[in-house]
Amino acid sequence: MKVTFRIQRYNPEKDAKPYFKDYTLDGLEGTHRVLDALHDIKWQQDGTLSFRRSCAHGMCGSDGMAINGRNTLACSLLLQDIKGIESGKPVTIEPLPFLPIIKDLVVDTTDFFNKYELVKPYLIVKTPPPTMERYQTEADAELLMESTKCIMCACCTTSCPSLWSNESYIGPAAILKSFRFAFDTRDEAPEEHMAAVDSQDGIWRCHTIFNCVEACPKEINITWHISQLKKRMVSDSM
Ligand code: SF4
Ligand code: F3S
Ligand code: FES
Repeated sequence: MKVTFRIQRYNPEKDAKPYFKDYTLDGLEGTHRVLDALHDIKWQQDGTLSFRRSCAHGMCGSDGMAINGRNTLACSLLLQDIKGIESGKPVTIEPLPFLPIIKDLVVDTTDFFNKYELVKPYLIVKTPPPTMERYQTEADAELLMESTKCIMCACCTTSCPSLWSNESYIGPAAILKSFRFAFDTRDEAPEEHMAAVDSQDGIWRCHTIFNCVEACPKEINITWHISQLKKRMVSDSM
């Protein structure tokens, strides 16, 4: 299969603004991933192309980008799953929206991770450690299971219109992490995980737009978790 990739390029040190450059690859299989194509382009055609990747297996969250306008992981998207690819339509690749561009497809995730830190994304325990492990029932663990699959790729948060209209919004990834620890029955300070989220620029700025769910490469129903957290905050305040 012959495919043209239309990739957004931008080097802030040299370019006045971002622009698109086309690269064509031949001999691709439908089972090749977009990340494989990016490697081919970088290693065979243009070594100046910059993008992040590490694990190449959907685990590290480093290669989030917008492919044909949809945020996803380049290492998890097979060419055969891209709509219209057989018809020869170019595949457009852009950096994740909204975040500042460092170069080409590499974005600055500082703000994203600063917001994540606000929810204290770790187990808080105040009692002395037990002689054995801290127990949790299977049902309690099951409640958290989906939220623990998050790999912090930022595909959800950067797809959210509530963030685009207000950069102070903490975003769905941080809210999901708040859920993950506030609902952990071993945690002894759920209010500390919820404090940063229970504000005008927190969970209450989510208007249930669902872009985050569409974008999540781990298929996490983020909106359901947000709704559970909202219910908990309301019931805790009564
Ligand atoms: Fe990525 Fe999904 Fe986690 Fe959002 S919730 S950061 S989209 S893995
Ligand atoms: Fe944004 Fe998702 Fe809420 S897209 S508005 S965080 S449901
Ligand atoms: Fe690690 Fe894609 S390279 S998630």
